[in-house]
Amino acid sequence: MNPSTPQHVLSGMRPTGRLHLGHLHGVLNNWIKLQHEYSCYFFVADWHALTTEYDNTGVIAQSVWEMIIDWLAVGINPGEATLFIQSKIPEHAELHLLMSMSTPLSWLERIPTYKDQQQKLQNKDLSTYGFLGYPLLQSADILVYKAGLVPVGEDQVAHVEFTRELARRFNHIYGREDNFEEKAKEGIRKMGKKNAKLYKELRKNYQEHGDGEALSTAQALVNTQQNISLGDKKRLLGYIEGESRTILPEPEALLTKTAKMPGLDGQKMSKSYQNTISLRESPLVIEKKIRTMQTDPARIRRTDPGDPEKCPVWQFHQIYSTAEQKTWVQEGCCTAGIGCIECKQLIIDSVLLELAPIRERAIHFLEEPESVRAIIAEGCEKARDTARETLEEVRQVMGLMYR
Ligand code: TRP
Ligand code: SF4
Repeated sequence: MNPSTPQHVLSGMRPTGRLHLGHLHGVLNNWIKLQHEYSCYFFVADWHALTTEYDNTGVIAQSVWEMIIDWLAVGINPGEATLFIQSKIPEHAELHLLMSMSTPLSWLERIPTYKDQQQKLQNKDLSTYGFLGYPLLQSADILVYKAGLVPVGEDQVAHVEFTRELARRFNHIYGREDNFEEKAKEGIRKMGKKNAKLYKELRKNYQEHGDGEALSTAQALVNTQQNISLGDKKRLLGYIEGESRTILPEPEALLTKTAKMPGLDGQKMSKSYQNTISLRESPLVIEKKIRTMQTDPARIRRTDPGDPEKCPVWQFHQIYSTAEQKTWVQEGCCTAGIGCIECKQLIIDSVLLELAPIRERAIHFLEEPESVRAIIAEGCEKARDTARETLEEVRQVMGLMYR
């Protein structure tokens, strides 16, 4: 993508159960921040959930609306971000199918998550066509909105990289038009003498010396031209880098830099470890879950000193506590100056404080299912408009507009 066009951010989440603190700290807080900075599209990846839950679709149906309510309750704002459900936008499926024709099988087979997940989820039969195609569907999700930035966790970076390769391949195959070069040169002339000269210099600098700054300056130059058509702009952007137009821009992964949310047992918080606190957990259950957390096994009696490094509660302090509180824990734990109950109480208070407004807003949305449906209907409509436009263009360049 070039720097001067406003970037679309796009990300999806699979509806496979209740959201918990891990989602909040790992993903949602980041989405909340991004929605102020970019035009964001966030969607419920229900088709993606099907790749592992095709024989258990009830979970998906149940989780779709619950997940949307959780998003709204934590502060994803439908006035800022576009929220929608993947399966309501059939263009994802169409683009997936069209791209599947030119996607080498070997590219899919070598994506690390393919074998990893098969190993991890041995109780599921994942030797399906749909599961192999999971990253391709994800690519279609991204490319159908021409998203520039894709916030993902580390495990998904390979999928964004794969998307970039597919986009490049697509543009290479379908971005060539007859007389491309002539048309590009015609476009250059339309920029006027001064700009044309500058464009040619920048293009040369980029092509001959790989000068990245020349590339972005040239892209900015093209994007700020007022007198040339959109088609010419695309051609000129494509001509900087090679001989073809960019139909599907290559997205970039936006790696989320967040501390890993620990679970109640010190492993990563995850439904499959049953160590979660859900976003709508009742205060009583929150208290009980934290009170009964494992601590440093050396602290059998109140008078036994401990080591925070050996205690999952300490990891929670990393997320929730101030520097002062952490010093208090460190010193108190190592000298047996504080008890584990006191130490945990700080965490209980912080989690209750964090989740109280979320729970309240969730109740509000649960009581108004119609308003939630309306938010999603509107989001779907907006997403679909964008997706339709892309598919028009894709069918066009693929030569599928016969009638
Ligand atoms: N695969 C992602 C996950 O498991 C979810 C997802 C589906 C997604 N489509 C996407 C994320 C497109 C980013 C962009 O978390
Ligand atoms: Fe863990 Fe706090 Fe107890 Fe130390 S005092 S063992 S950090 S709960």
